[in-house]
Amino acid sequence: MNSTDPLSWSGEPAEFDDYAAEYEGGLDNPVKRMMGNSPDQFIAVKTRWLMRHEPALRTGGLALLDYGCGIGSLMRVLVNEGARAAFTGCDISTGMLRQVEKRWPASLSPLPVLAPQDGARTPFADSQFDVATVSAVLHHVPVDQRPAVYAELGRVLKPGGRLYVFEHNPRNPLVRYVVARTPIDRNAILLDPTEVRHGLLDTGRYDLDTDYLMFMPPGLPFLRPIDRTLAWLPLGAQYVVAARKPG
Ligand SMILES: C[S@@+](CC[C@H](N)C(=O)[O-])C[C@H]1O[C@@H](n2cnc3c(N)ncnc32)[C@H](O)[C@@H]1O
Repeated sequence: MNSTDPLSWSGEPAEFDDYAAEYEGGLDNPVKRMMGNSPDQFIAVKTRWLMRHEPALRTGGLALLDYGCGIGSLMRVLVNEGARAAFTGCDISTGMLRQVEKRWPASLSPLPVLAPQDGARTPFADSQFDVATVSAVLHHVPVDQRPAVYAELGRVLKPGGRLYVFEHNPRNPLVRYVVARTPIDRNAILLDPTEVRHGLLDTGRYDLDTDYLMFMPPGLPFLRPIDRTLAWLPLGAQYVVAARKPG
């Protein structure tokens, strides 16, 4: 790394630097592998939900930040599904950001803008983004540091902007079983939607909604319609808290 390298970072290495090169979305867990055979199948449950709730992703014009973007899977799968947006990814792990550069298919679309975080803090301007996504990140953030993440997301979101927090649902027994046996989750502390909602409302004003996702194994597409009818039931493997910042 050098001083002209945007991913240059002289601070402490991050936990996920150790996993970056081999990262495959926790699919080293055999129970998770029974539910779907590629990490993208799990991500696609979230991206399909996003495409339904953010129709402007189909037409372009949105500035979207994926906070804690990891290896960039959410943005890549969105683009594969036809999303058009100005994509930006940030992460506390420069190792993970380097993997975005390495794994992003050259033929797909321009590489997202990438930036390292300094703790919760990002280098972005106030009110820079129309949409922010946070997928499978908060359970890796120590509890006492989560308020700083909520505050940062509120800072970079435009008035009228939307924030989508996707998380593992601790009420789902299979989720707890898998998380307890997945190496990358060894320091994870799961959080329920109430904690996310309260965390957001402690730092700003939002209109909030919660949906539950992934009742059926992502590897069985013919069962997808069942997932949509159960979105109200707090037992899906994932949930999303959708937060709209008043305009
Ligand atoms: C399980 S991965 C999820 C990556 C990606 N969002 C996805 O859905 O594929 C968790 C990511 O959160 C990042 N992370 C961990 N602690 C963080 C923090 N305090 N702030 C921002 N990102 C963090 C890790 O570096 C890692 O890339």
